[in-house]
Amino acid sequence: MNIGELKSVANDIVAKPKGLLAADESGPTIKKRFDSIKVESTEESRRRYRELLFTTEGIERYISGVILYDETLRQSSSDGTPFSNLLSSRGIIPGIKVDKGAKALALYSGDKITEGLDGLRDRLAEYRQLGARFAKWRAVIEVDEHDVPSAYAIRANAHALARYAALCQEAGLTPIVEPEVLMDGTHDIGRCEVVTSRVLEQVFAELDAHRVLFEGMLLKPNMVIAGKKCTNQASSQQVAEATVRCLMRYVPAAVPGIVFLSGGQSPEDATDHLNAMNAMGSHPWQLSFSYGRALQEPVLEAWKGQESNVPTAQQAFFKRCRLNGLAREGTYNSAMETTDSSA
Ligand code: 13P
Repeated sequence: MNIGELKSVANDIVAKPKGLLAADESGPTIKKRFDSIKVESTEESRRRYRELLFTTEGIERYISGVILYDETLRQSSSDGTPFSNLLSSRGIIPGIKVDKGAKALALYSGDKITEGLDGLRDRLAEYRQLGARFAKWRAVIEVDEHDVPSAYAIRANAHALARYAALCQEAGLTPIVEPEVLMDGTHDIGRCEVVTSRVLEQVFAELDAHRVLFEGMLLKPNMVIAGKKCTNQASSQQVAEATVRCLMRYVPAAVPGIVFLSGGQSPEDATDHLNAMNAMGSHPWQLSFSYGRALQEPVLEAWKGQESNVPTAQQAFFKRCRLNGLAREGTYNSAMETTDSSA
């Protein structure tokens, strides 16, 4: 295992003011996104959309890497350049989602377990050949106000994340470890903090047991936040304080960075929350972003599948990249949503 490379990829991904674009939607998920703008999901429409994102001028100032889906890593831009080469030539590191999705956990009603470990060693070797330098595996932790998640579901998901991360490091790919406590539902921020704490504690115990090098990985967690249907929504400051408190308790300082998922927050909230955390001062790890929906929602809205809308859609994308870059420095404010003239 090339420890130097694992560490340098991790550190390059979270170099200020940059973060990740998660463009690794699976076939069914991208179809859902395209349905919302009435665009048919075909191999070509998906390729064209991803090309729009990857060729946006100037994003390399704020985007250090892109998480791709298997199909996308094998696709090329209109002039025939493989996407992984296109990204690398702009100084953007290509990465790959390697899990095979979350399924119901047998005999544990309400809980999920992520599949994809069988054959993973061979798939990682191929992905590295295709140009990927980091990988992602997402564990989905359902949450209600009572018995979900079970302690067993947390353990099983933490174990799978650690097996994945160890295989990645063996293969020379920097693992992004993503335990996502969902923000669906009615639970409050306190419940989210309790569940996220239990999850992170277990995840780092398993990573340690599997001999994963903390310096050569990144954590991709949810923020500590109230469920979408909770009547008592927390303020930005409360989200920032609860999230940092939880991370301080359970994430070793050896981990170079934390790249949050957006999880269904609005693009503005996701930026504002990241900004509030970075404005609190310096932390043991870099606090950055690895957003899917929070970077792409305005882009899809502007694009609507029309070639003539590409420039406007790219402007919308650049704007979100830039504002999240400012949030990394703690210098964003919500007035920039309307006044940001560089967008
Ligand atoms: P969201 O930011 O839309 O939650 O997506 C991030 C991601 O990669 C989920 O696995």
